[in-house]
Amino acid sequence: MRLQICDTIEEAAMTTAAIVVEQLRNKPTSVFGLPTGQTALPIYDALVGLHRAGRTDFSQAHTVNLDEFVGLSSTDPRSFRAFMQQHLFRHVNVPVNHVHFLAGDACDSERECACFDSLIARLGGIDLQLLGVGRNGHIGFNEPARELQLRTHRVRLRLDTRRDNAGAFGGCVRDVPREALSMGMATILQAKSIVLVALGRSKAPAVASAFSGRISTDKPVSFLQLHPCVTVIVDRAAAVNLPRAHVESSLQRHEAGSSRRRG
Ligand code: GLP
Repeated sequence: MRLQICDTIEEAAMTTAAIVVEQLRNKPTSVFGLPTGQTALPIYDALVGLHRAGRTDFSQAHTVNLDEFVGLSSTDPRSFRAFMQQHLFRHVNVPVNHVHFLAGDACDSERECACFDSLIARLGGIDLQLLGVGRNGHIGFNEPARELQLRTHRVRLRLDTRRDNAGAFGGCVRDVPREALSMGMATILQAKSIVLVALGRSKAPAVASAFSGRISTDKPVSFLQLHPCVTVIVDRAAAVNLPRAHVESSLQRHEAGSSRRRG
């Protein structure tokens, strides 16, 4: 796992956006797995800025989003679909039929989840999966549990997760749906490469789990350690619980990169 510690949120966002740009350049038909959440906002801002500057072309790319709340339709302003539309899709040129989402209001959620996994397979798999992480270590909506699900599935959300998602529901936890549809652990881990972004002190324990050398279903993020190509991008606050050796070697690489760029 590659660790990159950034000085500011803007730097973390730009570093992540640059990885997306590079992926598009190498493979214009890339399939991107995308997250929602506060962490994603500065990344999508950076991508929109790069798009306006003529640096990205999503016309052949496909996107698949990680998750959606059960019961919300794609037009519901509180849905993740609406979040994506507002913050990314309306500003860039991904063709509308290349945007793929779990339908939170599907009558048969089991079928919806199975179809989503088949769709990802038909697209040739996810090339680059961007991830945020919950404070409790969830990725997508794979919540800490005795067992984790391999495939896209319907999940009961924990209270802490519902609290963290209350913003879009006027701050009222009671209004946050109790269930969601989420890509499973294997769906995520089969992506060819993964970039996880975590910002702020509240994410420090989850980030430490990602580098702990242990894998536990209590910390779904810890499973990323099994993947051969993961980059973790954090700010300094999210790095405070990491072992010193990790932090120092990452900062040294960062400093060497900056001096090379300075010339
Ligand atoms: C949400 C989403 C995740 C997201 C995470 C972190 O519940 N299901 O995909 O990455 O929690 O969100 P935030 O970036 O707002 O902290």
